Amino acid sequence: MASPDAPSNDANTPGVSPTIDIDPATLAPRDAYRLLIGGILPRPIAWVSTIAPDGTRNLAPFSFFTVVCEAPPTICFAPARKPDGSKKDSLANVEATGEFVVNVVGEAHVAAMSHTAATVGPEVDEFALAGLVAVPSTVVRPPRVAGVPVAYECRLMQVVHVGGDTAGAGSLVIGTVVRIHVAADAWRDGRIDIDVARQVGRAAGDDYVRTRDRFALRRPVVDADGTVRLPDDHPRS
Ligand SMILES: Cc1cc2nc3c(=O)[nH]c(=O)nc-3n(C[C@H](O)[C@H](O)[C@H](O)COP(=O)(O)O)c2cc1C
Repeated sequence: MASPDAPSNDANTPGVSPTIDIDPATLAPRDAYRLLIGGILPRPIAWVSTIAPDGTRNLAPFSFFTVVCEAPPTICFAPARKPDGSKKDSLANVEATGEFVVNVVGEAHVAAMSHTAATVGPEVDEFALAGLVAVPSTVVRPPRVAGVPVAYECRLMQVVHVGGDTAGAGSLVIGTVVRIHVAADAWRDGRIDIDVARQVGRAAGDDYVRTRDRFALRRPVVDADGTVRLPDDHPRS
């Protein structure tokens, strides 16, 4: 194992496999995008429902998505700017209304989810476009998607714009979760049963991953004297 003082250039470190070192400043945005989504995966998919100020329902998937913290329960997703630098409908709607719902995508909804990634105008109701049933939310105005394993109603906390009004720039949309809906058949003793929920994630290109191939790994225990003990079944590196 490399010591903490090892030089950062792996090519100079005996016994460490060589790497291709890339300065992102030399890359076109499209190539940077490929290196980001090809390395950072699997990514969960936020299927985000919003409503426009005129009431039009909008739905779109975003895999730049994760949890921020649990107190208060907070999640975030990041819509990119369109090729002309303008905002995607989801971002424009969240900024205008302050509300959104993250619907979690299970295997049963992958085709409909992909359908709602079509680039269409803000006047298009994407629930209708993909033949989806909209269920009224409890606390916020955007509806949720019927039949998804989990849905999180959110109030906008903050938007952090990164990179300006240009193609490839993005905005981190941070929301406080104000209601959680779990499909009754996926509810097991206060937890979400992944074998029922069957969430999917996005990989690179057109590839997706299922959550059926899992393994457990227990964490190390730190004794009172600071000794770190690995569980007996911990794989040794
Ligand atoms: C699985 C999947 C994940 C996606 N993730 C993102 C993402 O993280 N950020 C983004 O800007 N677009 C993402 N897209 C593309 C958007 O869904 C697409 O641009 C959509 O039309 C945006 O809709 P809107 O204009 O209604 O917001 C993704 C598409 C798919 C199919």
